[in-house]
Amino acid sequence: MFEIVTMGDERLKRHSALVPDFDNGINYLIREMFDTMYTGKGIGLAAVQVGKLYRIFITHVSGDKQRVFINPDIINTSVEQDKIEEGCLSVPGINADVIRPEEVTIQAWNDKGKLFSLDAGGLLGRVIQHELDHLNGILFVDRLSQKKKERLIKLYERQNRE
Ligand code: NI
Repeated sequence: MFEIVTMGDERLKRHSALVPDFDNGINYLIREMFDTMYTGKGIGLAAVQVGKLYRIFITHVSGDKQRVFINPDIINTSVEQDKIEEGCLSVPGINADVIRPEEVTIQAWNDKGKLFSLDAGGLLGRVIQHELDHLNGILFVDRLSQKKKERLIKLYERQNRE
């Protein structure tokens, strides 16, 4: 299990690098990421959140299976948007409604090194977009208005001082 990198750490603002090949190191990382995610009671986790700056994220949304996305790309997004409350293991104690496309099509490699594409809406589609943002150095609070973001960051800092 890894320690989770939290907001304020500069690594969360960086772009993660493409995974060059699928070796045992990657499989080990993925297993540890699932452990870390379940311990934190999360439904998605990006490698950067455990300090590994690779383009990998995992999801396990209720009612769905464990999913692994390596070197993912969102290749289509719906015009329709919706508002869903998000939280993040890297921003503990903070939740906020975020507006994003309702559905996305994502292409990625799985942990077996197989390319796949997936249409995802609902909570899974939401988690996928949130996790993909992590690979590009974006947190969900960055998707809010400046005013709301500043208010949440103040709240976060206050909570973490106590
Ligand atoms: Ni997150």
